[in-house]
Amino acid sequence: MGGDDSQPMVVAQRLRKVYRGATAVEALRGVDLEVRRGEMVAIVGPSGSGKTTLLNCLSGLDRFDGGRVVIDGADLTTMSDRDRTAYRARNMGFVFQAFNLLPVLTAVENTEIPLLLQGVPARAARRRAEEMLETLGLAQRARHRPDQLSGGEQQRVAVARALVHKPAVVWADEPTGNLDTEVTHVITELLVKTNREGQTIVLVTHNPQVSERASRVIRMRDGRIQEAARAGVEGAAT
Ligand SMILES: Nc1ncnc2c1ncn2[C@@H]1O[C@H](COP(=O)(O)OP(=O)(O)OP(=O)(O)O)[C@@H](O)[C@H]1O
Ligand SMILES: [Mg+2]
Repeated sequence: MGGDDSQPMVVAQRLRKVYRGATAVEALRGVDLEVRRGEMVAIVGPSGSGKTTLLNCLSGLDRFDGGRVVIDGADLTTMSDRDRTAYRARNMGFVFQAFNLLPVLTAVENTEIPLLLQGVPARAARRRAEEMLETLGLAQRARHRPDQLSGGEQQRVAVARALVHKPAVVWADEPTGNLDTEVTHVITELLVKTNREGQTIVLVTHNPQVSERASRVIRMRDGRIQEAARAGVEGAAT
């Protein structure tokens, strides 16, 4: 699967998502999107415009009601659940709006999960997880559990876990939400570095400090992409 450089990393066609409840919400109203290999795309837009929904549908975390998503040449809709789960574990990294760290594991144990899932030997996994935490300024917190970490520290552990196995695609929903300028800078530059090493990144952000480092900004409004604005900054994929 995948690896063809000419093929886009992410393709969404006429993507529709309706949340059915007391009142049905049309969260995605026909989204067309293509993300090229090696791009760093920022999705921006007002609260409730469908950014998280789009990320969840593109990454195969949530089902959608219409249209199609193709990741690295693989149609997620036709893949079996088992294949999709295995594909996600190997090729994708996630930073969620709620961090989803495992509460009984320490920071370093949370961080090394993707490596262990890939069969990296325990000792090497531990070393790489520790290095990643150190990059994020958390060397002194590696043995703390999430409930012994501040919100911002938990968020950094989630970023470490998303990047540690160098997945082909990184999905991040507000990776710097509620963080101060300094930590936002560290995380943003780590994402830029990761992107320069060839990884494709799709992130949601409200923060201009983050979106201005992306190669492209996509604006959402009312479940639609409003404009695919702005040409790339230096270093962006062409
Ligand atoms: N599980 C759900 N059930 C019903 N409606 C939902 C559900 N999740 C989201 N919605 C609705 O779908 C719309 C899009 O939500 P979404 O979370 O994608 O917005 P968002 O752009 O990520 O907003 P924010 O910036 O606040 O995170 C909103 O109107 C929201 O109320
Ligand atoms: Mg959201």
